[in-house]
Amino acid sequence: MRFPFLALLAASVVTLHASAGRDWPVYLGDKNASHYSILKQIIPANVAKLEVAWTFHAGDLREGATQIQCNPLIIDGVLYATTPQSKVVALDAATGRELWRFVPTEPNGLNRGLAYWADGVDRRVLFGNGHWLHAVDAGTGRLIDSFGDHGRVNLGDNLGRDATGLAIQANTPGVVFRNLIIMGMRVGEGPAPAAPGCVRAYDVRSGKMVWRFDTIPRPGEPGYETWPADAWQRVGGVNVWSGMTVDEERGLVFCPTGSATFDFWGGDRHGDNLYANCLLVLDAATGRRVWHYQFVRHDIWDRDLPSPPVLLTVRRDGRDIPAVAQTTKSGHVFVFQRETGVPLFPIEEVAIPSSDLAGELAAKSEPLPLKPAPFARQIFTAEEITNRSPEAHRAVLERFSRIRPHTLFAPPSKEGTIIFPGFDGGAEWGGAAADPAGVLYVNSNEMPWILSMIETGGATSLGQQVFMQNCIGCHGADRTGNKAANIPSLLDVDKRLTREQAMEVITKGRAVMPPWGFLSEAQRKAVVGFLYGDSEKPREANAAPEPWVTWMPDKPAGTVVPPPFTHTGYNRFLDPDGYPAVKPPWGTLNAIDLNTGDYLWRVPLGELPELTAMGIPPTGTENYGGPLVTAGGLVFIGASKDENFRAFDRKTGRELWRVKLPAGGYATPSTYEVDGRQFVVIACGGGKMGTKSGDAYVAFALP
Ligand code: HEC
Repeated sequence: MRFPFLALLAASVVTLHASAGRDWPVYLGDKNASHYSILKQIIPANVAKLEVAWTFHAGDLREGATQIQCNPLIIDGVLYATTPQSKVVALDAATGRELWRFVPTEPNGLNRGLAYWADGVDRRVLFGNGHWLHAVDAGTGRLIDSFGDHGRVNLGDNLGRDATGLAIQANTPGVVFRNLIIMGMRVGEGPAPAAPGCVRAYDVRSGKMVWRFDTIPRPGEPGYETWPADAWQRVGGVNVWSGMTVDEERGLVFCPTGSATFDFWGGDRHGDNLYANCLLVLDAATGRRVWHYQFVRHDIWDRDLPSPPVLLTVRRDGRDIPAVAQTTKSGHVFVFQRETGVPLFPIEEVAIPSSDLAGELAAKSEPLPLKPAPFARQIFTAEEITNRSPEAHRAVLERFSRIRPHTLFAPPSKEGTIIFPGFDGGAEWGGAAADPAGVLYVNSNEMPWILSMIETGGATSLGQQVFMQNCIGCHGADRTGNKAANIPSLLDVDKRLTREQAMEVITKGRAVMPPWGFLSEAQRKAVVGFLYGDSEKPREANAAPEPWVTWMPDKPAGTVVPPPFTHTGYNRFLDPDGYPAVKPPWGTLNAIDLNTGDYLWRVPLGELPELTAMGIPPTGTENYGGPLVTAGGLVFIGASKDENFRAFDRKTGRELWRVKLPAGGYATPSTYEVDGRQFVVIACGGGKMGTKSGDAYVAFALP
């Protein structure tokens, strides 16, 4: 779909920055998403002398776990960042002093960063929050009235179909190409209806939509044949939630897509499901597709692409090749020639098992690269069961023998399927770094999870039926929530909230909790009644599943039947003491030479002090947030569960420095220079893996 605003592009000005190299002007460093800086004041020989230059506390923690996943921007001595409650702050980057603060009217949970655009004195911070894209004046922190509707654009409009009441969250920043801001978004992934995940470009001055690419093809478009005929009207997802990369010179935008909804049962979306789980390469000016590569056909494991791909140059046979490298949750890196999509290492097709869930048709095979080797173990065999203690081993083995034996692409099952590497990767949203020598630095998790499917029919009351179909995937069949994932228990919700308040949370959503406004009022009231222990009229044992009624206005009420299966939650496979069920390493940092596909080094990332005290070598921990690599020869990374911030020698992987942060640094750090001094800054938002939340940014520099 195209719009007649292209003329606006003619006026585009590419603003070159006077302070090039000293700033961190783009999310993840630059438009290549390289996480790389040319700064080299801090080097292996002096990194141990780093000290805290300043600490900024946002002061907006709230009850419950909040996070800061933001990779801050630094432009001309000003740092732009977001806070636990998704306010935008501008700080003096040399001192941490607050210059201004922007508070969105409907603050919405999670944020990973900001985009920046400037043309002379017109300087804009583009901030996605909930279903709003805001344009904020970089000098004053005020909304720019001429952008969209008094400073903001509703991302719920112009989706190409009605998605009233469905979740849309712009929590990863869009990318700027000339005078366009190109946006993806997070949408629902459960069995409930979800918005379609189109990619859209907006004029950065006016907020008008310039193009939209429908990631679920429509009749007549290529890829339409990989779906049921009406999928484009009803299936959701296939969204770009983890950010994008722009090749300015070639005018290309690289869009990594997520899976189609429902994540774990695709009986109503038979086929390969293009352009889900793809690296989708579009003409950045027009939104026209240039090439694509699909990593997982008919995804039933939530194998979304977790981060923007990295653009880098690799050398082959003495020639420089423009390349794009995409890391995956499965622990692989796929490398392509950037203009053509030709793979730079061979990829093989692996036959995969079929599904025994009613209605499901798994793909026959999936592609995997032969090189580089995966950066996480691929199969959880009995030999990999933890040996931390004989008791832990026995307990894990007992559970292990009751669930389905793990194989590559083992389909979701009722008895339980191991997902390894886990739902969050392998590689996760922090993304990978790359240096000019063609070396990729990627942190990885090796945590097994168990996916169990259950039938959604057969509830004994309407309220229970609605809960089964919509809520148990997060809040759990026993309603106790999931502490490690920060999902609250609903067992005592009647003591915390009035029915009206519960109704409001359910209808509008809150933070990570999606809205359920598409359910009828009777259904929402029934689920509240179920949570508050009302004795409800029993439902007939064999009654048809409760249809969704208010979504899809063009279909008669009561005709949209929910999937017959849902899952029992996102559950890590842990031993009885809460450690991973698998042998270490549980988290690693890897340096892979993409010229050859060979590993330069691989080290555990993170350490659990109580295990170290018992004489166990560092195990690595789960980790979230990416690395930063510098010309000074260092790789900086927080990410680990131990709340430390570390620097490694870029050449050898040797740890040279570490410091304990006020809360977990689960975000990618940035580096910049002001007045001749190099700083490294990281958000300390915590709130993941059961650790405390924080509200700080801490900047380090040499004395
Ligand atoms: C995608 C995961 C997810 C799903 C699905 C989900 N919730 Fe939630 N829910 C959450 C999270 C996370 C919170 C906490 C939000 C916050 O931080 O404020 C929450 C909070 C709530 C609360 C407020 C609890 C309190 O103590 O304040 C209620 C009530 C609730 N959910 C009910 C439901 C119902 C009913 C459904 C199904 C219709 C549902 N949820 C589906 C994740 C989910």
